[in-house]
Amino acid sequence: MSIPFITAEEAASYIKNGDNVGMSGFTASGTPKVVTVALAQRAKELHEKGEPFKINLYTGASTNDHVDGELSRAKAVNLRIPYQGHKDARNAINNGEIAYVDAHLSHLSQDLRYGFYGDIDVAIIEATEMSPNGEVILGAGLGMTPTVAALAKKVIIEYSSYYRTSFRGFHDNYIPLDPPHRREIPVYRPSDRIGSTVLKIDPKKIIGIVPSNASESIHAFAACDEVTQKIGDNVCHFLASQLKEGKIPKEFLPIQSGVGNVANAVLYGLGENPEIPQFDMYTEVIQDAVMHLMEEGKCRFASTCALTFSDDAMLHFMDNIDFFRDKILMRPGEISNSPEVVRRLGLIAMNTALEADIFGNVNSTHVCGTKMMNGIGGSADFSRNAYLSIFSCPSIQKGGKISAIVPMVSHVDHSEHSVKILVTEQGVADLRGKNPIQRAETIIENCAHPMYRELLWDYLKLCKKATHTPHTLSAAFALHQALQEKGDMLQADFARYV
Ligand code: COA
Repeated sequence: MSIPFITAEEAASYIKNGDNVGMSGFTASGTPKVVTVALAQRAKELHEKGEPFKINLYTGASTNDHVDGELSRAKAVNLRIPYQGHKDARNAINNGEIAYVDAHLSHLSQDLRYGFYGDIDVAIIEATEMSPNGEVILGAGLGMTPTVAALAKKVIIEYSSYYRTSFRGFHDNYIPLDPPHRREIPVYRPSDRIGSTVLKIDPKKIIGIVPSNASESIHAFAACDEVTQKIGDNVCHFLASQLKEGKIPKEFLPIQSGVGNVANAVLYGLGENPEIPQFDMYTEVIQDAVMHLMEEGKCRFASTCALTFSDDAMLHFMDNIDFFRDKILMRPGEISNSPEVVRRLGLIAMNTALEADIFGNVNSTHVCGTKMMNGIGGSADFSRNAYLSIFSCPSIQKGGKISAIVPMVSHVDHSEHSVKILVTEQGVADLRGKNPIQRAETIIENCAHPMYRELLWDYLKLCKKATHTPHTLSAAFALHQALQEKGDMLQADFARYV
């Protein structure tokens, strides 16, 4: 069967107001890049004519400007699930234009298959190779592509010629059976392949193929500053000491690492630390640092959902692709983030907090409890189930006007039950085996910035009552209140509330 080449505009015309649209990719990698731009244009034209046009958008994780940026600016999104990280999408979510559901990344594929969100009308999928019978080699991000490809009534393929070397062999396409028939996901080591290198899509559903030659447009990270460097060092020294004490097996354990500058600093730190042995990764994204660690022989293997390389690093990857062929597998998000596999492999999970409270609860998503930053992403898939769950962040933000350590977090993403270790540039709080008061003492002393320690001790003294978790509810948000009223948490005045 021959599948026609069509223009991006023609492809976009198949998408109707109110459609549920699923997309390939994970982070910017592997996401559509041209049909979505045409779709945003179509939305703008329809809006100008006074016609409604909005889609419900389902993706593997965050996307790129071509998806979240273009569609948010065109006011073309009604419902958005799960993670996003684009400033225009964030603004639209926070001003109520987009209804945003912040779901765990490991959940969405199965929730779609369970029918929780209705049918998928259209899937837009980036392919790097394709045969006439619908066998597709995906790009640099897998996300929930196997599920949306299987569920969608219509499929649009974006055929990318940007990748100048074949990605064949890097993907592990796999969909678990759904309950009550589900068996174990048979990943016993990070390198175990369980699925297929190609994704088979019913060719009868494919409307057409749209050519594209766009890159992922990912920028390299800024060099580490002093604070991120110190956080990275603290995490590395802590892991080395755990290894020495026998609390981490001598073979070491697979690593999951979140995204961002801190994650990058930690990975570079692990690479440089001679006390840390070679390791594998079982994670949802790998960034530039991992590629270097592989070339240095420090990272043996990475199971991931996406290659979130900067454009320069992607070119380097493609030039040296044969070196990486037996060192990387890309899996769907529900497998890369599977709680079952995370628990079985015993991951060391390292994620980032916006704020943490003195009892060890972590907020990764909501500024002052109300404004969505990005979303929970896969952080809870990993942290709840890891062998060791580490959260890190700078102890202060905005020149000290914000303390990341607060009496009570303004939103809970990771409860005290899932947070084992908290790290800032000030130090490490090991929360294992500590009751709430001991946790509070350790976090204030080891993680809070010196300029906030006294204030946090004052809060704890205010609460010292014979109870398990001492709080004074009326004063618990005094720091957040001071930030909102006076622009500075340091101005908090507990006397006002008691
Ligand atoms: N209150 C208000 N603002 C805060 C804040 C707080 N407690 N903590 C950080 N910020 C601001 C920073 O000042 C910065 O603002 P700017 O953009 O104006 O400079 C912004 O938030 C980002 O902070 P930064 O320290 O640069 O964080 P980051 O880029 O490392 O991202 C998270 C941190 C938590 C937002 C990010 O890691 C995230 O979205 N995590 C959740 C999902 C996740 O963990 N994914 C990986 C799972 S595998």
